[in-house]
Amino acid sequence: MACFAPTSITGTSSIAVIINSIADMREIARRTIPRAIFEYAERGSYDEVTLRRNRSDLEAIEFRQRVMVDVSKQSMATTLLGEPAAIPLAIAPTGLSGLFHANGEILGARAAQTFGIPYCLSTMSICSIEDVRAATSKPFWFQLYLMRDRAFNAELIERAVQAQCSALMVTLDLPITAMRRRDAKNGLSVPPRLTLRNALDVASKPGWALRVLFGKRRSFGNLQGRFGDAHGLRTLAQWISKSFDPAITWKDVEWVRSRWPGKLILKGVLDAEDAHHACATGADAIVVSNHGGRQLDGAPSTISVLPEVVDAVAGRCEVLFDGGIESGQDILKALAFGARGCLIGKAYLYALAARGEPGVASALRILREELRVSLALTGSNDVHVVNRQILRSHGTPERVGVQGGCSLVG
Ligand SMILES: Cc1cc2nc3c(=O)[nH]c(=O)nc-3n(C[C@H](O)[C@H](O)[C@H](O)COP(=O)(O)O)c2cc1C
Repeated sequence: MACFAPTSITGTSSIAVIINSIADMREIARRTIPRAIFEYAERGSYDEVTLRRNRSDLEAIEFRQRVMVDVSKQSMATTLLGEPAAIPLAIAPTGLSGLFHANGEILGARAAQTFGIPYCLSTMSICSIEDVRAATSKPFWFQLYLMRDRAFNAELIERAVQAQCSALMVTLDLPITAMRRRDAKNGLSVPPRLTLRNALDVASKPGWALRVLFGKRRSFGNLQGRFGDAHGLRTLAQWISKSFDPAITWKDVEWVRSRWPGKLILKGVLDAEDAHHACATGADAIVVSNHGGRQLDGAPSTISVLPEVVDAVAGRCEVLFDGGIESGQDILKALAFGARGCLIGKAYLYALAARGEPGVASALRILREELRVSLALTGSNDVHVVNRQILRSHGTPERVGVQGGCSLVG
């Protein structure tokens, strides 16, 4: 059967690789970059219960298949924080993106810009705010971790202002770091190093080694002069625990609000009560997130709490969603539960590692096409009108139910 999904065909004429899913990107990434970096993206904290729940709860949700509806005219464009977005999607902040591909953050930002969705740069990026600003022509978002050194935070906020970032995303769910056991075992270091232990692995990824290991940007671009010449993830973990502020409270968000003149996004809300607090700060948006299953292991999946958070917010700010998004179908499910838009972390990194900027562009096209087709087959024409009516109530785990045990439909 012919495949009409947007595909990316690469390779020599004798061995053409057809890429038409995020899973394909993941597989190519696995073969392209060192194991320590691949697993840094792939794995979650502790027993990875929450990491798995993010996926399994999304997968368990069923659509209602609707027929005989005119779906010849569809609209997937929207706005996120008032900015036009080609589809309801943004690229999530991911630390160390520049180790997945040389100049990773620049390439990711450019791909997002060309496609027409927001890109969010992490505090812990390899390319600096200024690097990304110089390489792009549209404003991007900047993600901020709150550190003990408030003067440094004030400096980062000012740099984001100078770079004309259009939104500041403050991450709330990492006052301390949870352990990802694989990272400790893999000995991931920043900057990456060739060691006796990883020599074979790195030798089998010569393209990555040439571009990244011997490339120009290999350490934290935004932290120059602060991260020093610390080596090894143990040292990075130590730096984070020394630098990130475990005492942050809602008062600190007010501190940020008073210094940041633009749109404010609070990331890491997973509870209705916290959603009330977040709205009270005057935030423009929240991100329902459990850090992609990388922080509190045993926390619920993001999709299972999305309905109660949306209800708690009651339209006071935009509700964005991340955690486990790997397809256009996943995006549609989050929209059905009331998310304004979604963010992708791992899916973006796989595409970046696999093929750089064209890889990210290709992944975005795949997601858009899957969203378009799924929208049509649920009998919908516009991403703004989808709601819980497009979902079936049964066949879903209880955790994904609506509060009070009501049906998902209606
Ligand atoms: C490798 C990696 C690095 C991340 N780094 C950051 C970060 O620096 N700041 C942040 O707020 N979130 C970070 N996150 C979390 C993402 O922003 C996002 O919440 C998560 O990846 C969404 O889940 P998904 O990966 O299943 O799409 C990171 C996630 C990954 C996978």
